[in-house]
Amino acid sequence: MTARPERIQDVSQAAGEERPLPKHVAFIMDGNGRWAKSRGLARTEGHRRGLEALRGVVRHAGKIGVEVVTFFSFSSENWRRPQQEVSFLMTLLRRFMQRDLSELHEANVRIRIIGEREDLEPGIRSLLEEAESLTKDNTGLTLVVAFNYGSRDEIVRAARKLSLKVAAGELTADQITEDAVSEALDTSGLPDPDLLIRTSGEIRLSNFLLWQSAYTEFHFSPLNWPDFDETAFDRAIADYCGRDRRFGGLSAKVV
Ligand code: FPP
Repeated sequence: MTARPERIQDVSQAAGEERPLPKHVAFIMDGNGRWAKSRGLARTEGHRRGLEALRGVVRHAGKIGVEVVTFFSFSSENWRRPQQEVSFLMTLLRRFMQRDLSELHEANVRIRIIGEREDLEPGIRSLLEEAESLTKDNTGLTLVVAFNYGSRDEIVRAARKLSLKVAAGELTADQITEDAVSEALDTSGLPDPDLLIRTSGEIRLSNFLLWQSAYTEFHFSPLNWPDFDETAFDRAIADYCGRDRRFGGLSAKVV
C-alpha cells in the first residue's frame, strides 16, 4: 500500500494507535439538487457538478491508497424523477463511460457495475459491459458504479439465483450460507465497505448495500455532494480512523 498522507497519520497517531485506512469506501452522493437550487441553477447542473466531485474523489482515493470506491449513481427508485432529469443522468453516465474510460484504464482502475441491467437501454448496457471488460485485469483502484441499483432488488435477484441452483440440484438448502449469499450478490468478490459516506446531512441508507454494510462505519457530511472535496474526504477518513470497530466482539482496548 502507498504511504499514507500525513494528515491522516497524524490523526491516528494522536489517538495513540495506528488504524488502517478503510479498504472500501462507499458514497451516497446526495444534495445535487439542493446545491443547484441554492444557486438558482437547474437540478441537472447539480448532477453535472456532482460528476466532477466524483472524479476528484476517485483521484484522491487512488492517491491515498483506498482499494475500492463505490458510488450510488442511480437508484432503482430514481426512475420516478421527471423524464428530463432521468435522461440527463443517463447522458452523464454515457459521457463518463466514454470520456473517462481511457484515462481510468491508463490509471490501472478496474471498473465494476452493480445493479439491474435488464431495464437499461441496450446502448448504455453495452457501454457498461465494455468498460468492465476493458478494465477487468487492472490491479489498481476498483471503481464500482451502482446504476439502476436497489439493495432489496439485488437480494431478491440473489435469492432467485440460489433457488434456481437448488431446483437444478446444484446446491442443497444447507449450502445456502452467508458466503453463498454474498457470492450471489452483484458485489460478489468485493470486500464489504468499511466506511460509507452520505452527504447533504441526510441520515439514512436509502436501500444501498444493506447486506454488505452490516458492520460498516457511517459518516454523514453536511456538505452537498458537489462541495464534497479532498478535504472533506480526508476528514471522513480521519473520523473513521478514530472509530473502534468491534464486529460484535469486544474492543481491543478492553481485552
Ligand atoms: C442525489 O442528489 C444524486 C443523484 C440521484 C445522482 C447522483 C449522480 C451523480 C453525482 C453523477 C452521475 C455519476 C455517474 C457515474 C454517471 P439529489 O438530486 O437527490 O439531491 P437533492 O436531494 O438535493 O434533490
